[in-house]
Amino acid sequence: MADLVRYELKDGVAVITIDNPPVNALSPAVWEGIDHAVQRAVGDPAAEAIVLIGAGTTFIAGADIKVFDTLKTKADSFARSAGTHALLRRMEDSSKPLVAAIHGNALGGGLEVAQACHFRVATKDAKVGQPEVLLGIIPGAGGTQRLPRLAGARTALEMCTDGKPVPTPKALAAGIIDHIVPEREGFSRADDLLAGAIAFAKDKARRREIRKSREVPNADAAASHDAIAATRAALGKTARGLRAPFAAVDAIEAGIQHGFDKGSERERALFAECVVSNESKALRHLFFAEREVAKVPDIPKDTPTREIKRAAVVGAGTMGGGIAMTYANAGIPVLLKEVDQAALDRGLATIRKNYDVTMSKGKMTQEQVDRTMALITPTTTYDGFDEVDIVTEAVFENLDLKKATFAELGKVTRPDCILASNSSTLDIDQFAQASGRPAQVLGHHYFSPANVMKLLEIVRGRETRKEVIATSLKLAKKLGKVGVVVGNCFGFVANRMLAYYMREAYLLLEEGASVEQIDRVLTEFGLPVGPFGMQDIAGIDVGARIRQYLASIGKSRAEGPQSAVPDRLYEMGRYGQKTGAGWYKYDAPGSRNRTPDPLVEQIAAEEAAKRGVTRRTIADDEIIARITTALANEGARVLQDGFATRAGDIDIIYAYGFGFPRHSGGPMFYAETVGLDTVLARVKEYRGRFGAYWDAAPLLERLVAEGRGFYSEAAVQT
Ligand code: COA
Repeated sequence: MADLVRYELKDGVAVITIDNPPVNALSPAVWEGIDHAVQRAVGDPAAEAIVLIGAGTTFIAGADIKVFDTLKTKADSFARSAGTHALLRRMEDSSKPLVAAIHGNALGGGLEVAQACHFRVATKDAKVGQPEVLLGIIPGAGGTQRLPRLAGARTALEMCTDGKPVPTPKALAAGIIDHIVPEREGFSRADDLLAGAIAFAKDKARRREIRKSREVPNADAAASHDAIAATRAALGKTARGLRAPFAAVDAIEAGIQHGFDKGSERERALFAECVVSNESKALRHLFFAEREVAKVPDIPKDTPTREIKRAAVVGAGTMGGGIAMTYANAGIPVLLKEVDQAALDRGLATIRKNYDVTMSKGKMTQEQVDRTMALITPTTTYDGFDEVDIVTEAVFENLDLKKATFAELGKVTRPDCILASNSSTLDIDQFAQASGRPAQVLGHHYFSPANVMKLLEIVRGRETRKEVIATSLKLAKKLGKVGVVVGNCFGFVANRMLAYYMREAYLLLEEGASVEQIDRVLTEFGLPVGPFGMQDIAGIDVGARIRQYLASIGKSRAEGPQSAVPDRLYEMGRYGQKTGAGWYKYDAPGSRNRTPDPLVEQIAAEEAAKRGVTRRTIADDEIIARITTALANEGARVLQDGFATRAGDIDIIYAYGFGFPRHSGGPMFYAETVGLDTVLARVKEYRGRFGAYWDAAPLLERLVAEGRGFYSEAAVQT
């Protein structure tokens, strides 16, 4: 404990340093250490004031998230939070001025500790925030009570419901920070902060100034009331299906209406309710899964990587253009190659249009767009390809074309250049062989729109070098993506499982559910868009052409029965929004205003009759159960075959690739929430009802038999 929280006297001020790397998270020992150190300072005749500061590059990034797993019941959690509240009150009651000195981040419990100090000083680039809601909980150490008193109801509501960190200047204006410590030339930032905080604390001691946040009166009640009502109304639209953001509002409201003590009690009760919820467990799981994903078992942390200084993209279609934008947005110069000038012009026009939209939303200025676009060099030749560190191929999804492209790339690039394919279904190893240097080849599978979607599947070929994978993971981060390393199976992980998801949606439609019902049920479940709405946006023709091509080379996306309805729509020229009709009817081509189309229902009925399926009313619950079970069963196969490293990797792929609701934790975590035994029972039931394509994944059967889950250590060891 002595190491976690240090105590020393500097210039008559007690300096308490929290040293719990990497982010000074508040473990129970840190809480205790702070408590003891503050009491020691209060009783130390040599100390006239107290400064609380973080070691390393940050203040406190919050409670130790792992500790929440130890809170098993609401009652236990409620009881334990009493201790934290009392501790913070003891700090606040210090008879000597207590100053929090903030650099890096003061997040969650970190900001709550700072709020219990009498004053807060910060470096100009620090950030403060209450991100608990992103973990499905609310501030549980007084944040919903002290923050409104410091910053007003509106700011507190915003911070506690959107979870976004606030930079120092805004925090100063809001009243959360009292003073920004200026930097002096030639001094380290941390030294400056400490010196500034000590001077500030001594000044307060001289003036005998102490300010307890809990005693600051709440601002105007009527304005607070309006802000609360407005926040609830907004959350009704943006936070459907979530509990935590609403609980944060309830706690803030309780404090404003009934005072600090009653409000604190309400906060503790609401925190206790949230911390044991599935919503919070799922979000905490994703927090760690996202950090785990970058750790690939056979690729050590110290694997050498190379810096990607220049890039090239072959193919300026929707995906290629988006990938080029991704590089340019990250400040990396990129060559964009097309076969002829006309195709190149079309691609560039789309890129320009996309940036115009970004500008119209105020997210980029004209100057930023000009600077970014200048990083994209259009070309119809391979000139300059010998200078790039990576090429991403994004030509049509055609094996021969891609192989020919890789053969050319093998000749025009340097031997150490990474050659990546954006293929979504084809065999990376075939491209690797075609290139003549397979160790440099892998898949970089982006999701549409490539410049927006955060997922990057990094597809490992048979011979891909470890350095190439490690470099790709580092590059993904630089490009603002979450890189997940997957195996080279058909459809990789995301699309392989998606085929099962879509197939189940089509079959449910044939069996009697409607397009609108299925889309509604899945958006209520939390997806941004249902399967049919999604296809109407992406284009029914895209999938149909890939299916046709795959059939021509003897492949299919999923074993078992396939609905003919999507192909019939394709044959009718109903490609979705762009043609004004697809699964829905649209007001006009390109319009998003949709209405159900009885013709689709009729086609579904015809196809059902052909397959001898009797149509029936299908309950919403069956739709969710069938679709999520299909995902989990195929996910189990992906895992058992080693194409994903961990179940958590699959969850991250679905959260970032398809907007699978984060509060359900991803398809594998959700299956565990339902119970793997229930999932297996469903698979068996569906097999009986629908046929052998519902065979259970052996891994699922084994885990249920052994009473284990997808996340147990040995889950994927056969
Ligand atoms: N509790 C436990 N571990 C934490 C943590 C916390 N509050 N915050 C970060 N960590 C761990 C991460 O898991 C990671 O561990 P690893 O190296 O073993 O994978 C390590 O600290 C570094 O975090 P990382 O997110 O990779 O670093 P970063 O510099 O990109 O981001 C933060 C730092 C603090 C901005 C980010 O970690 C964060 O947002 N943390 C959560 C903050 C929060 O929600 N606090 C409220 C909790 S109620």
